[in-house]
Amino acid sequence: MAGVLLGVTGGIAAYKACTLVRLLVRAGHDVYPIITAGAERFVAAETFFALARTTQSGDPYPHLQRADLLVVAPLTANTLARLAHGLADDLLTEAALAHSGPVLVAPAMNSRMWMHPATQANVRVLLSRGVELVGPVEGELAEGEEGIGRMAEPEEILTRVEAILVAGTRTPGSLSGLRVVVSAGGTREPLDAVRYLGNRSSGRMGVALVEEAQRRGADVTLLAANLTVPAPLGITVVETPTAEDLEREALACADADVIVMAAAVADYRLPSPSASKRPKDGAPWVIELAPTTDVLRALGAARRPGQVLVGFAADGADSGLERAREKRRAKRADLFVFNDISRPDIGFDAPDNEVVLISEDGEREVGKAPKSVIAAAILDEAERVLSKR
Ligand code: CTP
Repeated sequence: MAGVLLGVTGGIAAYKACTLVRLLVRAGHDVYPIITAGAERFVAAETFFALARTTQSGDPYPHLQRADLLVVAPLTANTLARLAHGLADDLLTEAALAHSGPVLVAPAMNSRMWMHPATQANVRVLLSRGVELVGPVEGELAEGEEGIGRMAEPEEILTRVEAILVAGTRTPGSLSGLRVVVSAGGTREPLDAVRYLGNRSSGRMGVALVEEAQRRGADVTLLAANLTVPAPLGITVVETPTAEDLEREALACADADVIVMAAAVADYRLPSPSASKRPKDGAPWVIELAPTTDVLRALGAARRPGQVLVGFAADGADSGLERAREKRRAKRADLFVFNDISRPDIGFDAPDNEVVLISEDGEREVGKAPKSVIAAAILDEAERVLSKR
């Protein structure tokens, strides 16, 4: 159980903060709401206090002092800017300045406001101070528009709260000073100017790993292969749309301390795709595909002592686990992450995963959990291997 200060700022997503309060209370946390005047235009402060099973205190400072975590959800562009600049013009911003523990914010605003360089600069300031962001995500916005700017769902925010509280028991910056490279997404191999061979990987698992490595203080590079989710801010992103790009860029960072190959790399490509669109002629289109380089195998062959290499094996349940064990040995990786693709509720494009972590000295099952929790388990295991070196 932790003491959570929940700041709610003025946006329509304030109504979702009510659900967040309920989830936090149900998870056993002691929630103290700080409702800005803007938020009160949408939901009365009384609602939050009733859901938090507490009363609005004349002197909130004892609550502020006891808090383990400050969460601001939703966070408007205006309060984001006020936090970045250290203003203290209402109770929430005063509390933010007085609070010395972790801070998690869930921005919610119009896409144009989110993308504006001023907001992005403010976000970078907050990230550089160790503030964690959850969302915003793509979806329907208040004005009926679609785009990025929607507040992350309360369940996702709760998951991040739990991850931060668990991480609080771990040494902060456990990967600080180390370079971590993560490949994510799925490569696309051109067939002609418009068509490609690809696969279903969204990049969510890789992005969760990037966020976790960043949280642990690593210098992170993301090799991004056609992500369908936004890349986190504050890291180096190298676009690697094809297997050839990924091979070149991964080998260029082959001296990193930890390399996680979470991307689904195409095993075959068309050697000479047409530069224009192939017209349809009714006849079968016969193509001959050539194998691509196995990037992880190449990294394994060239590995330096002390480095940790992590591979993924998304496979069917029956022989999949055994195949994953064999792949780990063959590719000279330290750790392989197996997940069962015959399950529709985990893996591809799903927010959750369930994996088996296979290493030299044993196996560990990680039960179904959000990808952020799985990412933490994978990096715990990678750190364990690192510490033995
Ligand atoms: N991988 C890679 N380069 C490739 C293919 C795969 O680096 N050309 C990496 C993946 O990123 C993953 C691991 O190897 O970390 C296992 O990938 P997977 O596709 O499961 O294994 P393959 O060796 O390609 O075997 P198969 O497709 O036959 O299952």
